[in-house]
Amino acid sequence: MTTSTALRHGLADELDGQGQLPAPAWRSAVEAVPRELFLDDAVFRPDGTRWEPVRREQLGDEAWLRMVYADTTWVTQVDGVGAADASGPLAGRPTSSSTLPSLVLRMPHLAAIGDGEKVLEIGTGTGYSTALLCHRLGDQNVTSVEHDQDVAAAAARHLRAAGHAPHLVTGDGLRGHQAGADYDAIIATCAVRTIPPSWLWQLRDGGSITTTLSGWMLASGLIRLALDDEGIARGRFTGDTVSYMLARPHERPPRPTFYPHPGTTRHTRTSPDLLEDWTGHFVAQLAAPTAELVRTGNGVALLDVATGSQAWTEPADGGGWTVHQDGPANLWDQVENALALWQQAGTPDQRAFGMTVTEWDQTVWLGDPDGPHWRLPT
Ligand SMILES: C[S@@+](CC[C@H](N)C(=O)[O-])C[C@H]1O[C@@H](n2cnc3c(N)ncnc32)[C@H](O)[C@@H]1O
Repeated sequence: MTTSTALRHGLADELDGQGQLPAPAWRSAVEAVPRELFLDDAVFRPDGTRWEPVRREQLGDEAWLRMVYADTTWVTQVDGVGAADASGPLAGRPTSSSTLPSLVLRMPHLAAIGDGEKVLEIGTGTGYSTALLCHRLGDQNVTSVEHDQDVAAAAARHLRAAGHAPHLVTGDGLRGHQAGADYDAIIATCAVRTIPPSWLWQLRDGGSITTTLSGWMLASGLIRLALDDEGIARGRFTGDTVSYMLARPHERPPRPTFYPHPGTTRHTRTSPDLLEDWTGHFVAQLAAPTAELVRTGNGVALLDVATGSQAWTEPADGGGWTVHQDGPANLWDQVENALALWQQAGTPDQRAFGMTVTEWDQTVWLGDPDGPHWRLPT
């Protein structure tokens, strides 16, 4: 029988091969922390557009353990329902998970956390990433905040079972946790639309924020921001094609079903396929930060939840696309202008973009801070 210890070593080898275990101390954390303690006996597996609960008893111990140690994200909660409580497949959105180990390790690697540094983690989830931080830094140096009470209670149980006692907080991690400040690093394992100012206030000068920046189009960019002694945080996106679920207070509001309005019509040569590109999608989100993106089969629709505006494309006879725009915001104009700036720069990947964050203003820029830039919603 394959043991948990052997599977942990196998996972460590796999992550090492990907360059995600830069220091031996991280390798020993992966080898020491039993991921199975953090998944209880059920997770959700994707099943088309739904999430199917899978139980340990269904698979048998060996197959279950192999699944646990796959470098895969295991969703543990869908729309607030835990995998153990689901009686059948669910159609909702994942609201908690154990993130794939390579990404869990990528975050502190990028943050460049050193011995004895004090870390604030946002999004405890199952507690697996928290346990790795504890192993590496010592329990006393780790504070982790989880928004969901049930998830937080389960994480506390998992961490106890694994022999760790970090400082756990149940609440909104977008407020940070002032009592533990100043931190050397803040690591968010949920995505944000903007950087919460409290994170700037609770970091020491020179400290870092490592997070994914996302939004209502669900485009994503991973970034490490370093705080200077004037309270300004700056960084460049890494180009990793990774994403996390949005922090709950930053989630998309419900929107009505999309019914196409004829609106004002014009021709465009800007391909809606540009929004399929990782960076093109990100640029579109910067340009229309309160819009959602819907794929319609033969084009895209942009639906602005703030103003009710919409824009949608369809192939035009004779080439190019016809765009229909309706409502106070001309969403396609906004997106097209931003895509044009990106194309003029040679359609670089996300590493060409950076971000500057002050207490009162947050911008993502292309090339350098004086280049084209977009203000993030506050
Ligand atoms: C991807 S999961 C975390 C994965 C976790 N670090 C792990 O490896 O097991 C994201 C978690 O962030 C939590 N979350 C969402 N918004 C939050 C917020 N504002 N403050 C704290 N936690 C939040 C979710 O409830 C969810 O459990």
